[in-house]
Amino acid sequence: MLVTSALPYANGQIHLGHMLEHIQSDIFVRFQRAIGNEVYYVCADDCHGTPIMIKAHNMGITPEQLIADIGVSHKADFDGFLISYDNYYRTHSEENRKFSTEIYQKLRDKGYIKTRTISQLYDPEKNMFLPDRFVKGTCPRCGAKDQYGDNCEVCSATYDPTELKDAYSTISGAKPVLKESEHYFFDLPQFEAFLQDYIKNSGAIAPAMAHKLEEWFAQGLKQWDISRDAPYFGFEIPDAQNKYFYVWLDAPIGYMASFKNFCDRKGIDFNEFFKADSTKEMYHFIGKDILYFHSLFWPATLKGADLRLPNGVFVHGYLTVNGTKMSKSKGTFIQASTYLKHLKPECLRYYFASKLTADAVDLDLALDDFQAKINSDIVGKIVNLASRCAGFITKRFEGKLAAQVYDAELAAKIGAIAASVKQGYESRNYAEAIRAIMGLADEANRFIDREAPWVIAKQEGQEAKLQQVCTDGLNAFKAIITYLSPVLPEVYAKAQEFLNDSLNFNDAAQPLLDHTINKFTPMFTRIDPKDIEAMIEDSKQDLQAAANAAPAQPKAEAAAAAPEYEPLEPEITIDDFAKIDLRIATIIKAEHVEGAKKLLRLELDLGFEQRQVFAGIKAAYSEPSELVGKQVVVVANLKARQMKFGLSQGMVMAAGPGGTDVFLLSPDSGAKNGDRVH
Ligand code: MSP
Ligand code: ZN
Repeated sequence: MLVTSALPYANGQIHLGHMLEHIQSDIFVRFQRAIGNEVYYVCADDCHGTPIMIKAHNMGITPEQLIADIGVSHKADFDGFLISYDNYYRTHSEENRKFSTEIYQKLRDKGYIKTRTISQLYDPEKNMFLPDRFVKGTCPRCGAKDQYGDNCEVCSATYDPTELKDAYSTISGAKPVLKESEHYFFDLPQFEAFLQDYIKNSGAIAPAMAHKLEEWFAQGLKQWDISRDAPYFGFEIPDAQNKYFYVWLDAPIGYMASFKNFCDRKGIDFNEFFKADSTKEMYHFIGKDILYFHSLFWPATLKGADLRLPNGVFVHGYLTVNGTKMSKSKGTFIQASTYLKHLKPECLRYYFASKLTADAVDLDLALDDFQAKINSDIVGKIVNLASRCAGFITKRFEGKLAAQVYDAELAAKIGAIAASVKQGYESRNYAEAIRAIMGLADEANRFIDREAPWVIAKQEGQEAKLQQVCTDGLNAFKAIITYLSPVLPEVYAKAQEFLNDSLNFNDAAQPLLDHTINKFTPMFTRIDPKDIEAMIEDSKQDLQAAANAAPAQPKAEAAAAAPEYEPLEPEITIDDFAKIDLRIATIIKAEHVEGAKKLLRLELDLGFEQRQVFAGIKAAYSEPSELVGKQVVVVANLKARQMKFGLSQGMVMAAGPGGTDVFLLSPDSGAKNGDRVH
């Protein structure tokens, strides 16, 4: 089977909401592998679209560079959480270009692509069409200022961007104009009967989700706009001029591309998986926000292109923290990399597993409960069970387990939970599996409390009983940790070493008897509440930096997630460097800009001329007057940029990741304004 998680956008960091999905799919995959199924597990970064293009532009780098940097940090986050992808790829790849083009051509040749002229808001300065989220203005209903193009955050009205008053482009600040352009549409209504049948009868879509989809059918399926005009970061539509596939056309095809890239390296037959009558299975894990794409557009695209269909689209709810939406100001908008600085990945894996069911309901990470559950379940009940028994086996029996089972009831319980555990994992009701496993842990601990090996150890002539009781305890531990292997892969690996056995999932209930184990070493430490507090504090800072920083921030975010230092840019020659004309200038005026959260307006004297520069340094230099008289280094031949607040003629150089950590560069005393920096 082929299993996927949704492809995260390549313009932001991975946070714990994303991790809910990747942990959910990883547990499923590890379980399937453990019971002996052949599973391929792939994902990728979703690289295309306007936001990524704009972000790269603002950072002064190419989109290719941006996605390369983000790709590295995403991969590091998933590795950090022990997500076992066979391939983590990117949608901006040759495989994906080829598949997207071929699928499009097939759809076109079969009459599923229509064209039509539409009019849309256009930025006359940047010469580009504006997606809704790049238009802001005054809400036509309540008059709130600076609302997004499609809905008002103040009164929740939804509207068409053309209805906004005093609309402006968030890219240039210019007033948008209406402009016509020909667009390409995928004719979804032709697939209505097919989709109705697929959703109701294939078993791929859970009944609750099918029910949700009925609303959309009731409203009538609409043709889907799959083209975007240049400039756009994506794949060009083969037979159109300067038109690109909309990011959501090539994104799910990215599942295929990632898998193809893997198959080619491993010699696996890709077509066996994707031909229309494939007997292999394919499952997609997604969040509830992207159900529409995965249960309507994607199956219709596959069907139209004569390819196989998904066997399951598994939908999860949203992550909340402490009962509410993740909040930047509360420090509960937690990035994966921030979490990993303070806590073990398996804590979160276990907590999510203990609460995940197959329903698309929201899941709350209640931090107090999280700490209590990890400390009580993993440390108090599981690892402790082993440590209570292991010492006697090592010290008194040279590591040798007894040759027979002592307590038949406990042994029966070990076998009896196997079915619920498997059923729980298989049906994505991990909470059920964890409940069954913890039931066994409770029973095993009660057994040890009752038999009290520390008492038996002091009695004479009770060696055999001591060895058997401890062996039973360790065999319960063996079953528990083996059943938990999809959730806790690292603890499982340590247990394999300790118990000196491969701990096969299908034999979890088989006791180890007359078998020599290794010395017990602690496998897990308790969560200290200080670690959680530190993570929250760090998250506040991360997001403060992100909120305050100039456009250069994403780079800094990527750097924060990466090991320690930002990776070096590709090598350049001295001639490349000479193209950058750096000059010394004195700040002669510095002031706040009304309505700008991050910017200061600087007037600079470059000796030969004076210029205005908008610099994203407000968070670091909150008292602008202190900057007056300071000498700085300016990129003097940088193309001037029209911003919402005026023209910015150059860039002032500074070090640091952004936000409050920005440090302006100054020359030693003696440098004259206008001097070139070599
Ligand atoms: N790029 C698209 C998916 C393309 S799939 C062919 C996208 N990216 S995303 O980065 O916005 O989201 C990726 C996945 O993370 C989605 O399944 C989304 O539902 C999930 N989540 C993002 N935030 C989430 C939470 N707060 N909680 C749970 N899942 C969340 O959509
Ligand atoms: Zn409003």
